[in-house]
Amino acid sequence: MSISIVRFEPHHLHGFEAMLDDPDVVRYTPMPSPVPEGFGPAWLGRYESGRADGTREAFAIVEGVEFLGIAVAPAINERAREAELGYMVAPWGRRRGAATAALLQLTRWAFDDLGALRAYLRINVGNEASRGVAARCGYTYEGTLRSTWFKDDLRVDTEVWSRLPSDPDPA
Ligand SMILES: CC(C)(COP(=O)(O)OP(=O)(O)OC[C@H]1O[C@@H](n2cnc3c(N)ncnc32)[C@H](O)[C@@H]1OP(=O)(O)O)[C@@H](O)C(=O)NCCC(=O)NCCS
Repeated sequence: MSISIVRFEPHHLHGFEAMLDDPDVVRYTPMPSPVPEGFGPAWLGRYESGRADGTREAFAIVEGVEFLGIAVAPAINERAREAELGYMVAPWGRRRGAATAALLQLTRWAFDDLGALRAYLRINVGNEASRGVAARCGYTYEGTLRSTWFKDDLRVDTEVWSRLPSDPDPA
């Protein structure tokens, strides 16, 4: 069965919440730890507002009816025609190409549906799995931002990777 991204809906929240306690999700994403009560619906609410005003979008990564993770555009700048993209795969869906398949589809959506002229990823230094996904999806490493705010009182060095519509499509 093929892996695809579909619009994130409330029925995906159960799978979403189940992956938030994973150590790599805590370490490498801005998701809060411990996860506060009601976080999932509040998170979805922010994305639904973003859908309405064109500043954010969220998809679920699925294989058939199985929830594998999320593929998101947490920051869309319509005027600048730029979109930050991101992804997270639940521990039970890893190492079978889900993030790669999802990022390829998300990037295509950003270029074709949003009309973005630049898609970019922010990856914490040391997140080798995510760097592998970025490279496989045709993204180019641009540089490392030093001591960027991550969450709470944490600051980290952050790599920026980008793809332009004119870059070769590895798909
Ligand atoms: C990063 C993450 C999304 C990768 O998801 P995934 O579905 O397992 O990735 P894929 O199966 O598409 O992996 C593609 C390639 O990435 C690299 N990769 C994946 N997991 C890796 C790991 N744990 N260590 C090193 N390289 C890894 C490999 O090159 C892999 O190919 P291979 O399986 O043939 O060796 C997942 O580990 C995750 O959600 N981590 C926590 C959240 C996170 O870091 N999100 C990204 C924030 S920028």
